[in-house]
Amino acid sequence: MTPMNLEDAFTARQNKALISETVTPEKTAAYEAKVAQGRDDPEGFWMEESGRISWAVAPTHASTSDFTGNVSIRWFDDGKLNLSVNCLDRHLKDRGDQIALIWEGETDGVRRELTYRELHAEVCRMAAALRGLGIKRGDRVAIHLPMVVEAVVSMLACARIGAPHVVLFGGFSAEGISERLVDSGAVAVITADAARRGAKRIPHKATIDDALKLAGTISSVKHVIVVNVTDTDVEMKAGRDHAYSALVSAQAPECEPEIMDAEDVLFLLYTSGSTGKPKAMVHTSGGYAVWASYTLGTVYPQQPGDVHWCTADVAWITGHTCVVYGPLLNGATTLIYEGLPSSPRPGRWWEIVQRNRVTSLFTAPTAIRALMREGDDFPRQFDLSSLRALGTAGEPISADAWLWFYEVVGRGKALVLDTWWQTETAGIMLGPVPGATPLKPGSATRPLPSLQAVLTDEKGNIFEGPGEGCLCFTRSWPGQARTIWQGHDRFIQTYFTFASGMYFSGDGARRDEDGYFWITGRMDDVINVSGHRIGTAEIEDAVGIDHRIAEAAAVGVQHDLKGQGIVVFVVMRANKAGVLPSEIGEVISRQVGRYAAPERVYVVDELPKTRSGKIVRRLLRKIAEGQTGEFGDLSSLADSSVVQPLIDIVARERKPA
Ligand code: WT7
Repeated sequence: MTPMNLEDAFTARQNKALISETVTPEKTAAYEAKVAQGRDDPEGFWMEESGRISWAVAPTHASTSDFTGNVSIRWFDDGKLNLSVNCLDRHLKDRGDQIALIWEGETDGVRRELTYRELHAEVCRMAAALRGLGIKRGDRVAIHLPMVVEAVVSMLACARIGAPHVVLFGGFSAEGISERLVDSGAVAVITADAARRGAKRIPHKATIDDALKLAGTISSVKHVIVVNVTDTDVEMKAGRDHAYSALVSAQAPECEPEIMDAEDVLFLLYTSGSTGKPKAMVHTSGGYAVWASYTLGTVYPQQPGDVHWCTADVAWITGHTCVVYGPLLNGATTLIYEGLPSSPRPGRWWEIVQRNRVTSLFTAPTAIRALMREGDDFPRQFDLSSLRALGTAGEPISADAWLWFYEVVGRGKALVLDTWWQTETAGIMLGPVPGATPLKPGSATRPLPSLQAVLTDEKGNIFEGPGEGCLCFTRSWPGQARTIWQGHDRFIQTYFTFASGMYFSGDGARRDEDGYFWITGRMDDVINVSGHRIGTAEIEDAVGIDHRIAEAAAVGVQHDLKGQGIVVFVVMRANKAGVLPSEIGEVISRQVGRYAAPERVYVVDELPKTRSGKIVRRLLRKIAEGQTGEFGDLSSLADSSVVQPLIDIVARERKPA
C-alpha cells in the first residue's frame, strides 16, 4: 500500500473499518465459528482450549463459576498441572535449543540469550535454592527487580515450587512496598542491589531494607535474596540476606516440580482501586495457563522463529502474561529490555527491533506518544521490516497515535492490535484477531470469542446496539481474578454489585454500529498515568499524612504525554504555617512512589462538596483542566460560591501540563 500523509490517512480512516487488507474469508469464517461456539457451548469451547496445556491430571470440566451471591469463580477445578513445566520442560524435546529469552542491557553491546534448555536449568537452580531456604508450596514470595533475566527466572522458579509470586514495581516507595509485604504475608523478597538508569542507580536493596524496617515485627519476611545488577555496594544482614549468585550456583540444574491443583494460587498482583488500600488480585494456576496461552495465541499467533517483545515491566499484568507466561507457554522467543524507551539515546527501541528481527512489538500508548514526539527520523533510520504485529494496551490510544504507529513504525505492513484488558482479567478481553478483524484506528475492536461483553446504563440495565455505557461481562473466563487477597467482600462489592450477575470492569465504553468498542476511560476514582493505575484515595491518604493539611482532592487531567496527569487541591488546617506545593509533591512521591508525583498542586480555601459532604471531583477535574464555565448542574453543591475562587487560582497558576 502506498504511504499516505498522516492527515489524509486519518481523514480517510476515521471511524471506518478500513484497514482490512489482511482479512481473508477463511480466517473470518473460522473466527465466526469460534464466536458461535464460544457463545452457545462455552463448556465445549474451553475444554477444547484446555488442550493447549500439558496437564498432570486433565480436567473433566471447564467452568463452575457463579457471579451471584458469594461469587465463586472456578475453572478446570479437578485438573492438576505445573506452570513452569508448561513453560519450559514441555518444550525441551522439540525446541530445547531455541532461544526462549533475549535480554538486552541498557549498556551498549551487553545482552544475553538463553535457550529453553538454559532457562530451564536456571529456573530449576533457583527453585531448588528457594526450597533449600525452606520456602514451600503456598508461601508467598515477593519479587522486586528491574528488567533482568533473574526477574523471569524468579517468577518461574516460584511457579515450579508452588509458591505464589507477588511482583512489586521498582517505582513503589518503601512505604508502598512495606504495606504490600505485610498484606501478602510474603516470607521472602527477591531484589537487586540497584537498577540501572543510564549513569544513575535506583536503589532496590536499600528500599527493601527501609520497607522491612517500617513493617517491623508484622512482616513475615525471613529471607532477602539480592541479585547483583550494577555492582553497587549494599548492606547484607547475616542470616537474612543472601546473594543470588552464590545461592543459585550451589544448586544442581534439576528440581522436581510441585504438582498444583488448577485452583491453587499462581500469583498475587497488586492494583489500585477506589480506596486508599491497594488490593492484590488473586490468580490461580489452571485457568490462567489456558487463558494466557489462548489470548496471546489468538491475537499474536506465533510461528517458529518469531520474536515477541512486550515492553511492559514484569511488575504489571502485561509483564506477567505477555512477557513471561503467554510467550513461553506458546513456545515463542520473548525479549526484555533493561532500559527506558529512549535511553541511552533516541532510536534505541528501533535498534533492538532491527538487531533481533522482532516480529511483534507490544507497548503502551504513553510510550507511543513519547516516541512520536521524537519524530519520524528515528524509526526511519532502522530496518523494521521484521515487524508483523504492533500491540498497544493500557490506555485509550488516539487515532493519530494509532496511525503513526501503523504508518511510521509498521510502514503499513504490520497490524496495530489495540487490546483492552486489566489486572483483574489477566489476559486480553477486547481485541482484534489477525486476518478476521478489520481494524479501526483507536478502537480495541470486539470481544475475543467466548467473551460476553455488554454495555449497561448507569443502573446496570443492558442495552443493545450503538451507544455509550458501562462495560460489563455476563460470563466468567478462565483467567478471571478469583478474589482479592484477604478481601473477598471487597471483591464482591467492587465488581459484582453494580449489576447483578455481571462483572463490572470500572470502564466506560462506546459501541458503534459495527459492534466495535471504543473505551472512554475509568468511571471510578482511578487515574491512569502513563498506564499506571493510581487511586485518587491513595494520593489523598498520602497527602493527609502531612499534619498541616486538612483535606485534599486528587483528580486526573488530560496530559499530552502521560495520557492523564495528577492535579491535587489541598486545604490547610487553620492556624498552620503555609505549605509549599513542592512539599506536597514530595510527600506523595515518598508515600506512593515517584510515578505518582502530581503535575500541579493548588492550595485552596475550600473544596466543592455535595450536601452530604462528598467532594465533587468531576467538577474539580474540569476546573483543573482550565474550564471556566458551563459546568452543568451545580445544584447538588452545598455551597456554589466556592467555585469561582477555584477557577481564579487555577487561571493564575496554570502552566501548560
Ligand atoms: C485499565 C486496566 C492492558 C492491561 C494492562 C493494564 C485501561 C487497558 C486499554 C485499552 C483503553 C485501556 C482501562 C482498564 N485500559 N487497556 N486498550 N484502551 N483503556 O492493566 O493496570 O489493570 O489497568 O487500563 O481503564 O480498566 P491495569
